[in-house]
Amino acid sequence: MVKLIGVNKINTSVFISGRGTNLKNLIEFSKKNSSPIKINMVISNNKKAYGIRYAKKNKIKFKIINFSKKSEINNLLKILNYNNIKLICLAGFLKILSKDFIKSFKGKIINIHPSLLPRYKGLNTHERVLENNEKFTGCSVHFVNEKLDGGKIILQKKIKIFKNDNIKSLKIRVLKEEYKLYPKSIKKIFTNY
Ligand code: GAR
Repeated sequence: MVKLIGVNKINTSVFISGRGTNLKNLIEFSKKNSSPIKINMVISNNKKAYGIRYAKKNKIKFKIINFSKKSEINNLLKILNYNNIKLICLAGFLKILSKDFIKSFKGKIINIHPSLLPRYKGLNTHERVLENNEKFTGCSVHFVNEKLDGGKIILQKKIKIFKNDNIKSLKIRVLKEEYKLYPKSIKKIFTNY
């Protein structure tokens, strides 16, 4: 993989809605020489998102956007373009992006999802996986298209479900894998950049 340092790194924006531990992990990743990205901007639809503090702590610009207002989305598009953002990473972002927004960033939006897609799209994945007595679960990083959790898969990690697993333990174990899978997927996309 080509090493991209400083100015050559890909300008990236991370979209969050809550806790932001994947954002924290991506910020740490972005600081490494081996990372193809730098994080220029954090966007949240929720002004109370805990993850915003990781942006503040790392002096990364952040913006709260009301995704129900077309004018705010149009303004966001302008800001992202003005800042030359080439990659958007959704990390626990719980709003569905409009078709127009996805079209504007076609092929440049990726998402992490806590299941082995195409199985268990949407919310409450761990609950549903356990209810169905699945033997395995995992996480997926995929390109975002207009279908919910339906874009091309970049990478997946499968883990075994133990007999004594519950929602909390599964969440923790899957998250641990997410922290490895998201950086690995970003590296994979930009291997031939
Ligand atoms: C993560 O498990 C992520 O995969 C999931 O939300 C969590 C966010 O955690 N995303 C989805 O469910 C998207 N449909 P974080 O805010 O600590 O990164």
